[in-house]
Amino acid sequence: MSNSAVQIVVVGSYNRDLALRVDQFPAPGETRLSLGRIESPGGKGSNQAIQAARCGATTAMIAAVGQDPAGVEALSLWSGLQIDTSAVVRLSDVATGMAMILVDHQAENMIVVDSGANAHLSEHHILAAKPLIAQARLILAQLETPMAATKAAFDQARRAGVTTLLNAAPANAALDQQLLALTDILCVNQTEGTALSGQTSPEAIGASLLEMGPAAVILTLGVDGAMLFQRDQPPLCAHPPTVKAVDTTGAGDAFIGAFAAQWLLNQDPSAALHFALAAGALACTRQGAAASFGDRQEIERLPASWSARP
Ligand code: RIB
Repeated sequence: MSNSAVQIVVVGSYNRDLALRVDQFPAPGETRLSLGRIESPGGKGSNQAIQAARCGATTAMIAAVGQDPAGVEALSLWSGLQIDTSAVVRLSDVATGMAMILVDHQAENMIVVDSGANAHLSEHHILAAKPLIAQARLILAQLETPMAATKAAFDQARRAGVTTLLNAAPANAALDQQLLALTDILCVNQTEGTALSGQTSPEAIGASLLEMGPAAVILTLGVDGAMLFQRDQPPLCAHPPTVKAVDTTGAGDAFIGAFAAQWLLNQDPSAALHFALAAGALACTRQGAAASFGDRQEIERLPASWSARP
């Protein structure tokens, strides 16, 4: 399906997630029996697009999937959520991305991604989607698809005056300095922030990443909430509502998709931060990645047990 006015364009991955619940993560060489499995849609790009769409933003995906059942499933999932798929490419001879996930009794996870079609998203595909990018208000990307494609998308966005938001995840992907220079808002967790900046304290990570180019840096801190750093302004801190977590997979993606959708509503960074934390917390209460996300109404109903301080 295609939309004429798309607010958020996500350049990113789709994975079919196979998650196994374990009492504890196995040590190297150890075999453990699973307590149960869940197969569901994932991929950081798709997850973030789905959360943004469920929060009411008109959303499009630029992605690559295979011509296999998982690729068909991705297209049908996005279409069902009114996500524009006109710039999704279906590649032959390559499988749709896949992720193997372990979730332990503390709701923590370990993830290995087999990129498949995601690794073949190219600058050529981005060029074909130039009109879609130019009419958007926000371009959102992660590091699960090739950096050259993301850079091309951010370059188009910058020329068209469209805001760029980069989620620099996963942490082990090397980050191109040119991509950082094209990024308006950078979002990282503490591990990713430390990998990029060499700093460990939230304040030092925020200050160091701001110096690399972005106008704003969002640092997520798990149960401690999130901080937003902007040049020449004191950092904003916000705390998440308290929930009973069963699976944290995709919670960071819920945070980013919800932040993007809320920020577009009124450009109020504090309101967007609180809303995004509620979306992330809600996602922790159910199993799976995108399967665990709430819609705007459900997110807004979460008890307001957070607080904001300057
Ligand atoms: O952020 C969670 C996601 O990371 C999972 O859905 C998995 O597919 C990997 O991309």
